[in-house]
Amino acid sequence: MSSDITNPKEFNEDVRLDNALRPLSFNEYIGQNKIKDNLGILIEAAKKRSEPIEHVLLYGNSGLGKTTLAHIISKEMGVSIKATSGPAIEKTGDLASILTNLQSGDILFCDEIHRLNKTIEEILYPAMEDFNLDIIIGKGPSARTLQLELPHFTLIGATTHSGLISSPLRSRFGATYRLNFYEQLDIEKIISRSAKILKVNIENNNTLKLIAQCSRYTPRVANRLLKRVRDYSQVRANNVVNEQTTKEALEMLEIDEYGLEPADRYILKTIIEKFNGGPVGLRTLAASSHEEPETITDVYEPYLLQMGFLDRTLRGRIATKLAYDHLGIKYDPEGNKLF
Ligand code: ADE
Repeated sequence: MSSDITNPKEFNEDVRLDNALRPLSFNEYIGQNKIKDNLGILIEAAKKRSEPIEHVLLYGNSGLGKTTLAHIISKEMGVSIKATSGPAIEKTGDLASILTNLQSGDILFCDEIHRLNKTIEEILYPAMEDFNLDIIIGKGPSARTLQLELPHFTLIGATTHSGLISSPLRSRFGATYRLNFYEQLDIEKIISRSAKILKVNIENNNTLKLIAQCSRYTPRVANRLLKRVRDYSQVRANNVVNEQTTKEALEMLEIDEYGLEPADRYILKTIIEKFNGGPVGLRTLAASSHEEPETITDVYEPYLLQMGFLDRTLRGRIATKLAYDHLGIKYDPEGNKLF
């Protein structure tokens, strides 16, 4: 059901584009100013002390720039960065191999850190705290613990679900930053910067505004939309990217003026039509709208909540009056929803 265009998760085809457009320094990185300022201080202070920076936890929705920030931190610190992810570390040996191959000061970037398994997480505690690796060799009565000293590395963890990080792990990060959705103006600047790199000529400011408005305030979605608009203009409009061709491209992609795609609207419609506006539990909603529960929580819900189309209550998700209005369905707060 879910289409890929407004899904802020990273797909293989994005990797090349993301790499070409990825800002390489804080100066090039647009938006998230508070986080940039704080990270700047963290980095400068660590450099003055000639120490690695403390472990950093970055959390926020997909596509907002957590990986980019980690790469910028490594560049500004002048150290190497190794990237892995929670689900990729399956065995204790995997983690041991990653950690023992780091140099002092290196950054280990662990995406989706909330998906680390419990055993691995417990090995990570002393590694983060004292730079010790405790490995158990053998089984039963002959089992022994081997302690290895590790280089002083920095772990940068990234997660979309800070609530799923256990408190022992969370407490071992020296600094935690939350990335928010971007401001409209910042998204416009990002699209403008990307258009220059991709050599797309956006005709005027209104066109830029229009693409930004449909980008879910998320740079990855903005860059993807820019690419699609560019393709459309190339094939249908002699490379002219103006309001008209942008509108046509968005219409073809079935993306509306709020950046909602068919799957978003289907979820809202399902809550309204099948569950009388809600509340409806996540699993029931997922089954009824033919989505995985994680896709709803990770992909659709954050933006629908942010835009005020959806509310989350203790008893489940509800569609707001705004959702009814947007879908052209009459809202009856007394309970008898009229279609
Ligand atoms: N491309 C993707 N994210 C960006 C950002 N925050 N600033 C500039 N370009 C970007």
